[in-house]
Order: sequence, then structure tokens, then C-alpha cells
Amino acid sequence: MIRFEKVTKIYLPESAVLQDVSFEVKKGEFVSIVGKSGAGKSTLIKMILGLEEPTYGDVFFNGENIHKVSHNELQNIRRKIGAVYQDYKLLPAKTVYENVAYIMEIEGRVNEDIALQVPRVLAAIGLKEKMDNFPEELSGGEQQRLAIARALAGQPEVIIADEPTGNLDPYNSHEVLALLEKINRSGKTVILATHDREIVNKLARRVITIEDGRVVRDEEKGRFII
Ligand SMILES: Nc1ncnc2c1ncn2[C@@H]1O[C@H](COP(=O)(O)OP(=O)(O)OP(=O)(O)O)[C@@H](O)[C@H]1O
Ligand SMILES: [Mg+2]
Repeated sequence: MIRFEKVTKIYLPESAVLQDVSFEVKKGEFVSIVGKSGAGKSTLIKMILGLEEPTYGDVFFNGENIHKVSHNELQNIRRKIGAVYQDYKLLPAKTVYENVAYIMEIEGRVNEDIALQVPRVLAAIGLKEKMDNFPEELSGGEQQRLAIARALAGQPEVIIADEPTGNLDPYNSHEVLALLEKINRSGKTVILATHDREIVNKLARRVITIEDGRVVRDEEKGRFII
């Protein structure tokens, strides 16, 4: 589904952030990308979203080269990916309901569709009761869950989460992780970039470890070793 082929990313003047990175993520997998701060995890994720270009090599999504397709095609690919970030990126002046609905509106979904899908997504992540609250009235864990709800709203094939537990305490980290596992069990592919050793070891799923810009380990049922 997602394939990196000998991807090298060099930020000028001369720092190679990723070097010769190759791996493939199959549909339905749950993959953690781990590495120290600055290892290149976010850069790698931005390349899947088409937000950064590889200096050398290619990135494919369902067989299509993300960095060679037309603008329209890239938009289509992005619609199949739900992105979740550490800093939530919520809209402070909109309620929980509106935060999710807004994403669907900009994706051009019809109102009936939105009215049906938003409560469904909020129920799935356990925030239905907070539907009319504003983000600042939510706990950190709830805000992160809302960010996941927004990513889910467009019914993507893949959820890509960059450090989603970065601002959370262990309890809320665990809750967010359980939610990602639930999403994965529902058939969606999940890619998680993190430096949270605890949660990766608990997952016991595939782990790709990046060190000095290279993939140094790629293991099924991996552990966090750096
Ligand atoms: N736009 C940019 N221009 C120049 N250098 C950059 C740019 N973006 C990232 N870098 C550098 O690339 C390296 C990798 O950054 P990246 O954000 O991918 O790391 P990371 O693994 O996500 O780290 P963290 O765990 O802290 O989030 C860092 O050394 C960073 O300074
Ligand atoms: Mg990062």
C-alpha cells in the first residue's frame, strides 16, 4: 500500500536526514516508526503526505508515485490518508461536533452524509457526550482523541499518527493507543511515528527503527531498541 524505494532526503546545505530508506507497509498493518528525536520520523511521514519531496528515490501509495502524480491525483491520495499530529491542530472556535464536520465540509461531503457520519465517529472514539463542548474544555487525551476523530471523518484507508502521545500522560497515552488498535482492527492501516518506548513495546507489532537516517531494524513484533 505504501512503499519507500531507496529514499534519501537531504536538507541543504548538506544534511542527509534519511538515507536509502526502503520498506513497504501492507494494507491492514500496524507499523511503528521509531527513532531518536531528529532521526527523521516526521520527515518520512511528510513524504507520505506529499508535503516533502525525496531528494532521491520514490514513495508509492497504492502503486502511484506520490511525487510524480498530478495535483488532483495527489489530492485524491491525501483523501485516503488521515493524519494525526502531536499538537492536535484543532479549531478552537468550533465545537467538537463542528471540528469533525468542518473536515468533511472541506472535503465536499454532502450535509446528510455529515449529519450521519459525525455522531458515528464521535461515538467510536468516546466523545459523543462532549459534542457541544469546545476544544479548550477537553482534557489533553480527549483533544488527541478528537484529532483522531477528525482524521477518521473522511473514512481514510490509512491513519498516520506523528507522535500522538507526545503531550499525554501514561494513562491518556494508553487510551490513544487502544483507540489506534481499535481502528486497526476495523481494517484500517495504521502508521505510528513515536519515541514513546512504553507504548511501542506494549503494542508488540511491527517496528521500523531509524538511526542516523537509515532503517537499522524492521521487525515483526518488534521492540523499541535504541
Ligand atoms: N525543513 C527543514 N529544513 C532543514 N532541516 C530540517 C527541516 N525539517 C527537518 N529538518 C531536520 O531534519 C532532521 C529530522 O527531523 P524530523 O522532524 O524528521 O525528526 P523526528 O524524528 O521527527 O524528530 P522528533 O522525534 O523530535 O519529532 C532534524 O535534524 C531536523 O532539524
Ligand atoms: Mg517528529
